[in-house]
Amino acid sequence: MRPAREAPGDAHGGEVRAERRSTADPDATAALGAEIAARLRAGDVVLLRGDLGAGKTTLVRGAAAALGATARVTSPTFALAHRYDGDGVRIAHLDLYRLRALGEEDEDLIADELTGDVVAFVEWPEPMAALIADRVVLEVELEHAGDDAREAVLRWKADRT
Ligand SMILES: Nc1ncnc2c1ncn2[C@@H]1O[C@H](COP(=O)(O)OP(=O)(O)OP(=O)(O)O)[C@@H](O)[C@H]1O
Ligand SMILES: [Mg+2]
Repeated sequence: MRPAREAPGDAHGGEVRAERRSTADPDATAALGAEIAARLRAGDVVLLRGDLGAGKTTLVRGAAAALGATARVTSPTFALAHRYDGDGVRIAHLDLYRLRALGEEDEDLIADELTGDVVAFVEWPEPMAALIADRVVLEVELEHAGDDAREAVLRWKADRT
């Protein structure tokens, strides 16, 4: 029987395919988020990496809107997690920057927020990356590329085409 979720790296014959995308402004990064959202399903976790201001939250804003969230996505840096109701799915948005600074992890937070009925986006995931690895379907890396330009690399870990 085919496993419900492929092991990381197995989605494309053992190779993780990297998709490179450039965005010229925040709206384009949000649109990339919407495009990603169309490929996600409940239970999926997306990791977002990149420097401060690289556009991680902007991408989640576009993804959440595409999933039907009407509330404006704001950075959960201090709350650690925000939840939004989408259209038939819920969205969890975590930002673990503060845990990273404290050198801590919080397994209760994962149990509470990364439930199987949400699509979850996790910024600054390092403190808990190992704990959630089996749920991760996509890793996004965003980089500043001068002024309003950003470079994104998408690494899909599960077949979501
Ligand atoms: N192409 C772009 N894509 C995304 N954001 C852009 C772009 N060009 C300019 N910006 C601006 O850069 C900022 C990105 O902020 P955002 O909160 O999305 O970053 P972040 O990666 O989540 O940062 P943090 O690590 O602090 O949470 C916003 O002010 C946004 O308007
Ligand atoms: Mg952010």
